[in-house]
Amino acid sequence: MEKYPGKKNVAVFISGRGSNLKSLIKYSKRNSLIKIILVISNNPDAKGLKYASKSKIKNYGIKFTKNSNFENNSLKLLKKYNIDMLCLAGFMKVLSGNFIKKFSKPILNIHPSLLPKYKGLNTHERAIGNRDSFTGASVHKVTEKLDSGKVILQKKVKISKSDNVRSLKKKVLKIEHEIYPKAIDKFLTNL
Ligand code: GRF
Repeated sequence: MEKYPGKKNVAVFISGRGSNLKSLIKYSKRNSLIKIILVISNNPDAKGLKYASKSKIKNYGIKFTKNSNFENNSLKLLKKYNIDMLCLAGFMKVLSGNFIKKFSKPILNIHPSLLPKYKGLNTHERAIGNRDSFTGASVHKVTEKLDSGKVILQKKVKISKSDNVRSLKKKVLKIEHEIYPKAIDKFLTNL
């Protein structure tokens, strides 16, 4: 049963700062298709958890000592809060196939590259190292294979000669904040 009629109950997994979480919370407060009711971090000190508390959203830090502990505890919470969809936002751990199967609802992720280019870490270093003219961000469905699920939305940004990893990260992050809410809208409208 939906807690907020007409809206999907959404959980967000984070690992740190939580700027994407912030943009999703802002979006969920507008006339959106979702209600964020749960935030979980594998890092109990994640700054994003404090923001969730400030926004009066239930949140939990579950120390990632063992993958199975984190996953089993999270699955219990996802069930308890009747979650319809999970959004990974700066969540730096890889979820197991077992978790994805057991949750059985959609899981989305935001990745700082134009997938299928640069799966995994250090995307900006690689784009600059390869002298790419463009990079960007992608929102995709999460499957067992890292950063390989269907792309829902992506947006490009130009890499200028003066860009370094730091400046590029900043540019791409701005795009991440813009496309994650749009991708959720697109995904839920096409269900
Ligand atoms: C983002 O660039 C995300 O794409 C990457 O880690 C960063 C997390 O930022 N995987 P934040 O925690 O959302 O501020």
